[in-house]
Amino acid sequence: MEHIILDVDTGIDDALAIAYAVHSPELNVLGITTGFGNVSQKEATRNTLQVLDVLDADQNIPVIPGATTPISGRHIKEKSTRIHGEDGLGNSGLPFSKRTPHPYEAADFIIEKMEEYPGQITVIAVGPQTNMALAIQKKPEIVHLAKRVVIMGGAVTVPGNVTPYAEANIYADPDAASIVFESCMPVTLVGLDVTMQTLLRVEDVQKWTAVNSDYSDFLQTICHYYINAYHQFDPALGGCALHDPLAVGVVIDPSFVKMTPMHVGVNIERGDSLGNTHEVSKNNKNVEVCLDIDVDRFVSHFLNRIV
Ligand code: BDR
Ligand code: CA
Repeated sequence: MEHIILDVDTGIDDALAIAYAVHSPELNVLGITTGFGNVSQKEATRNTLQVLDVLDADQNIPVIPGATTPISGRHIKEKSTRIHGEDGLGNSGLPFSKRTPHPYEAADFIIEKMEEYPGQITVIAVGPQTNMALAIQKKPEIVHLAKRVVIMGGAVTVPGNVTPYAEANIYADPDAASIVFESCMPVTLVGLDVTMQTLLRVEDVQKWTAVNSDYSDFLQTICHYYINAYHQFDPALGGCALHDPLAVGVVIDPSFVKMTPMHVGVNIERGDSLGNTHEVSKNNKNVEVCLDIDVDRFVSHFLNRIV
């Protein structure tokens, strides 16, 4: 079993990634760290606790609050209300959770677990890279203790989604992403290059009606919201992208994708291309970039696990 820490900014596809991970026997979820991004850190923490409730997940999975602002404090990306709803979960109105957040800071939790399980922890980071970067700054030795960081973020061969140049998670904290990319830690990048191909369609969501549980109602609410939001931006797409679930999928079964080692840099200068991820040179390859995907195999695996 793979020991994982999920680092989230819970949002709709983060919720789907949490559900996919919790439902996957290959993964041992040691904890879920939260940060700002789609919503504030406080809302991401609240949403994560509520999602664990509706999943009826193990009470022992800790939720550890982390970064509230980008590492440099230079710019703050707006909340993604249009894509994820006012509450970040498609205005689904989940009940208040009685679970409580863990008293640690996310970065300390990451450091503690890396020391406890040297060479065995995979961090699946599906929000801005701030918690990972703070952990590296606080204890640089962890870069030799991590097994891998799998990042949902970036767009190396395709345009961005928040600006023509940048993907949302990288744009929210480019300095943090740069610290992680430059850290010598093994990094896998699951970017828009592949995630924009992984579509969840209305027909997939409608099949859950028959299940008729609080959980399937929740899934339908958030996915319909998300599909509608995508439709506003691109009616031709026919669904919503499974960004964050794909990062989990790549850890469960790396053969869903083909990875290409590349030297990837992040543009940290203010200006139009802030947060752009691009190939810097043909040497010093620092990131395994997912560039090809077996879409059908991944989407059916996800659908079979999620409900
Ligand atoms: C990423 O940004 C967020 O809106 C999603 O949760 C995902 O992590 C996609 O660019
Ligand atoms: Ca996310």
